[in-house]
Amino acid sequence: MKAIGLTSFGNPGTFEEIDADLPDISDNQVLIEVKASSINPGDEPLRTGEIFKSSVGGQWSEKLPIILGSDVAGIVRAVGKKVTRLKVDDRVMGLAIHSGAYQDFVAVDEDHLAKLSEGISYEIAGAVPTITLTAKQALFDHGSLLKGQKVLIQGGAGGVGHVAVQLAKNHGAYVITTARKYNHDFVKALGADEVYDYTEFDIADKIHEKVDLVIDTVMEASIIENNGVLGKVGEKSLSLIKDNGKYVSIVSFGVNSYPMERNIKTYFFQSIPNYSDFDKIVNWIERKELKIHIDKNFSLSPQGIVDAYINSKKQPKKGRISVSKTQE
Ligand SMILES: NC(=O)c1ccc[n+]([C@@H]2O[C@H](COP(=O)([O-])OP(=O)(O)OC[C@H]3O[C@@H](n4cnc5c(N)ncnc54)[C@H](OP(=O)(O)O)[C@@H]3O)[C@@H](O)[C@H]2O)c1
Repeated sequence: MKAIGLTSFGNPGTFEEIDADLPDISDNQVLIEVKASSINPGDEPLRTGEIFKSSVGGQWSEKLPIILGSDVAGIVRAVGKKVTRLKVDDRVMGLAIHSGAYQDFVAVDEDHLAKLSEGISYEIAGAVPTITLTAKQALFDHGSLLKGQKVLIQGGAGGVGHVAVQLAKNHGAYVITTARKYNHDFVKALGADEVYDYTEFDIADKIHEKVDLVIDTVMEASIIENNGVLGKVGEKSLSLIKDNGKYVSIVSFGVNSYPMERNIKTYFFQSIPNYSDFDKIVNWIERKELKIHIDKNFSLSPQGIVDAYINSKKQPKKGRISVSKTQE
């Protein structure tokens, strides 16, 4: 079978078609014929090699080629002996966290997958898993958001942010968010009550009443370079939180040991794939309570992935970039 491997670190054109063995599946895994995936901003420092210059670089392997793509949507082609929920020919989506989905077939744990209905296209489904799981776990599992509370979502037009705005609003929260001017109509249509352009204002001058919870989705260079626990956005966020409130970051890996004042609780977490959350998410999408915005869709090919990465750096942008075979 063919895979699309990252064959050198740098910009751009570093993806090539490579030959790979058809993956073996363990008893709890299924073999998926990949139809779609997405571009994850989290892979960017790895793709460019920047990650190896940082203090956390040692966590990643420099051995090439690497197959990227954590989101996966496709068709089940084989099931392991202990698989109970899924069967051959099921349409599924989930996280291929140990292997990468930029290949013809990938082996994934059954528990990391949800069944898809016919109404959800692969192009959409390939963009769904990471951003929705992260937004759900940030708001509810770590942020314990309650109806009527005020939440500030930093980066509300992004992949995770645009999902978080919708989920928080559906839950009955008052939603404040940050986005560039051209994305204000977009985030308001998703349910934001207040939106501020972070390039124009210091948001601390605009937000006068403190919030119960901040969800921070903004990755800043300082966080990567110094393994700094908080970037400027994080620092600013803390000043806007009520006493006893919560700061949940999906980017500041060291934040759990950050010395907090005013009994503010801080959490950094990595989203954990599980089918129960994925089933809920599929349900929300089917019931049209959650809409996934695809900024652009590219072909799941070496050139398509390069183009998608180049595009992911361009403005204006909102939602998630997907890559799919059906797009060709
Ligand atoms: N911990 C986890 O489990 C987990 C899971 C998923 C993602 N992540 C990480 O979370 C980050 C966000 O992911 P994503 O997919 O949502 O990325 P994304 O689509 O690029 O969204 C980031 C958003 O932040 C906005 N932004 C940039 N600078 C800002 C600032 N100073 N103030 C306010 N907003 C600002 C961007 O707006 P512009 O377009 O205007 O720049 C963009 O809309 C990535 O670094 C990713 O690696 C972590």
